[in-house]
Amino acid sequence: MRDRQPDRRVVLHKSEERQGVQGDGWRGWLADQDMTISSMVKDETAPPAQQRLPGAPVHVGVIMDGNGRWAARRGLPRIEGHRRGVEALRETVRAAIDFGLDYLTVYSFSMENWNRPVEEVADLMGLLKRFIRNDLNDLHKSGVKVKVIGARDNLKADIRALLEEAENLTKANTRLTLIVAFNYGSRQEIAAAARALAQEAVAGLIAASEIDETLLARHLDTAGIPDPDLIIRTSGEQRLSNFLMWQAAYSEFVFLPIHWPDFDRQAFSAALAEFSARERRFGGVTGQYRNGKLLAGVTKT
Ligand code: FPP
Repeated sequence: MRDRQPDRRVVLHKSEERQGVQGDGWRGWLADQDMTISSMVKDETAPPAQQRLPGAPVHVGVIMDGNGRWAARRGLPRIEGHRRGVEALRETVRAAIDFGLDYLTVYSFSMENWNRPVEEVADLMGLLKRFIRNDLNDLHKSGVKVKVIGARDNLKADIRALLEEAENLTKANTRLTLIVAFNYGSRQEIAAAARALAQEAVAGLIAASEIDETLLARHLDTAGIPDPDLIIRTSGEQRLSNFLMWQAAYSEFVFLPIHWPDFDRQAFSAALAEFSARERRFGGVTGQYRNGKLLAGVTKT
């Protein structure tokens, strides 16, 4: 098991101090938040499986940020941060099942990530391949349905084949849908949807006047998937970085001051606790919504 004990020798970079990234992991941050993990799960080693807690989200999106900085602070190569990031991802999927989430979307490679040094891009492609080869059977046995969003056309044939294999093998599973955003960009996704709609209009299949947000959403990679209730980003950065921008219109955001390899079940449940303490109004007023749903008998104004 990897060591999650705080490393108090770590010196924060100036930008991390400004962002409040904790040098000693998530524990100090949790204490500052006055959050009790037990308010979300009774026993963190054996949480009740498949029971969504009241106020818990259905769909959580995660921007797994800070692998490089995690590695740099330990004098390790960036790839080591990504490797530890895969371990954190495994634990996150297990926790998502235990917390009873229906959907978990993880941002694993953005279209802009092609701008990284070629060696790092190759490392990330290698990690994805290993993740699918090593973990697919376990994911399948756990009832996880894998769905990949993002462009496929510029990916190598072996990667495309693995993504398809993962989707085909797990397509009938219902316990948790793991959506892997790979070679994904929200602006590109929206542009592709607009292009498809324009082609349908030119072909006379739809009238331009029929195009509304419901029709556009049906042309996104996420068609049929509910919008994320909560988006978590690690590393102290506070931005979306081209992730689910359409779908996040009414998402709650939790920005954690820890790097992704340090993200674990406890940090996850603290983020869920923070989410459950928020009141979502979807542009309405206090008291109209509970757990993201318009209350019965309450009419929209
Ligand atoms: C951001 O950290 C992370 C990524 C760009 C990749 C996320 C990838 C993983 C968690 C592992 C790979 C998993 C799969 C399934 C491919 P960063 O490198 O931008 O960190 P930095 O901002 O500190 O440099």
